[in-house]
Amino acid sequence: MMSEGSRPPRVGAPASASPERVAGLATAKLPLQHAGWTAVVASTPEGVIGDGERMPWSLSSDLRRFKRLTMGGVLLMGRRTFETIGRPLPGRRTVVLTRQTGWAAPGVETAASVAEAERLVGGGRCFVVGGGEIYSQCWDRCTECWWTKVWARLDGQVKVDLPWPEFRIVWQTHCPAGPRDQYPTDCFCLKRPPEGNRKKKSPV
Ligand SMILES: NC(=O)c1ccc[n+]([C@@H]2O[C@H](COP(=O)([O-])OP(=O)(O)OC[C@H]3O[C@@H](n4cnc5c(N)ncnc54)[C@H](OP(=O)(O)O)[C@@H]3O)[C@@H](O)[C@H]2O)c1
Repeated sequence: MMSEGSRPPRVGAPASASPERVAGLATAKLPLQHAGWTAVVASTPEGVIGDGERMPWSLSSDLRRFKRLTMGGVLLMGRRTFETIGRPLPGRRTVVLTRQTGWAAPGVETAASVAEAERLVGGGRCFVVGGGEIYSQCWDRCTECWWTKVWARLDGQVKVDLPWPEFRIVWQTHCPAGPRDQYPTDCFCLKRPPEGNRKKKSPV
């Protein structure tokens, strides 16, 4: 995945700042500022994202990128995903979607609907970080997606089927498996082009 020399842009920085931008794509036409939310997702080629309890892989470089990318922003997640993490992550606001009126956790804000989450987030940089239910409900609000394609064949109870053709690749990098990365991965930064300028075929 990502080495220290190929870091993602910081929050608020345009992806075009990256030296690994994919050549030949009309990224100049894409918005430099992020008007919408950013999805951050890791999945196998078949769409497996989890087993319902934990992440089904150990990918240290992916965690490092996640931290760097999301630091200072708002993490929007479902209650089940929060419970797999078990605590709010430092340096970021955590907004948890739950329909349970009595549910609470220290350092966490709750929202009973996506619309309420939108109000809570306000103009902050919002990262949609799962799980499956939340990706599918928030996908339309995402104008950017960081997708880690994990080259593993796994059975998992939680899958996503996200409409990638709506997006274009603006940056990508490969990371081989290693002592701290269980599987090889490809990481893509994708952006949603303006309406009417979309590709018909999946970019990945
Ligand atoms: N690979 C990745 O990138 C990645 C990222 C994150 C998570 N995961 C994995 O995904 C799995 C969890 O995903 P999941 O789909 O089972 O659960 P989830 O999306 O994390 O959470 C579902 C819960 O969110 C709440 N919810 C959903 N829609 C809502 C709405 N519109 N308004 C208010 N609350 C709402 C409900 O909580 P209540 O039941 O409390 O009402 C629901 O049970 C885990 O295995 C985790 O490890 C993978």
